[in-house]
Amino acid sequence: MKKVLITGANKSIGYETARQLLQQGYYVFIGSRNLENGAAAFEKLKAEGLTHVEIVQLDVTDDDSVKSARIEIGKKTEVLDVLINNAGINGGWPQAALEASIDQFKQVFETNVYGVARVTQAFII
Ligand SMILES: NC(=O)c1ccc[n+]([C@@H]2O[C@H](COP(=O)([O-])OP(=O)(O)OC[C@H]3O[C@@H](n4cnc5c(N)ncnc54)[C@H](OP(=O)(O)O)[C@@H]3O)[C@@H](O)[C@H]2O)c1
Repeated sequence: MKKVLITGANKSIGYETARQLLQQGYYVFIGSRNLENGAAAFEKLKAEGLTHVEIVQLDVTDDDSVKSARIEIGKKTEVLDVLINNAGINGGWPQAALEASIDQFKQVFETNVYGVARVTQAFII
């Protein structure tokens, strides 16, 4: 059974991707920065009969969280076949390049750029 980790999969596009991959026979690790939200997603999938799934606490902006997720998943599988760096933020609106605050830029880069690098480096070895 192919194994996949999807970051930010407790809702929206990440969740739907998880659901469809589960339907296709994948084993899915749902990355969720908030475990309660992850548990709610898990229950919804279970109610649809999709059980080859588990929740992993994973905040892509947090080194320790990513390291812990790597260790946790490493204990369950030697191979992670697919990594989907889905977690992302839009940074809020308005967001004109000349008006967005530096904090806004930093937040977006922390999640959408460094978060992707952090997770990819942790899991692709
Ligand atoms: N929807 C679109 O039209 C669109 C268009 C282009 C690109 N995208 C990209 O597609 C991806 C998914 O979009 P979406 O519409 O499904 O977004 P969404 O509804 O805002 O969901 C984003 C997901 O990412 C999670 N997330 C945010 N920051 C995180 C962090 N630091 N660590 C871990 N998880 C984090 C969120 O967790 P919480 O529930 O805890 O907030 C949520 O699960 C994003 O990367 C987005 O930029 C979307």
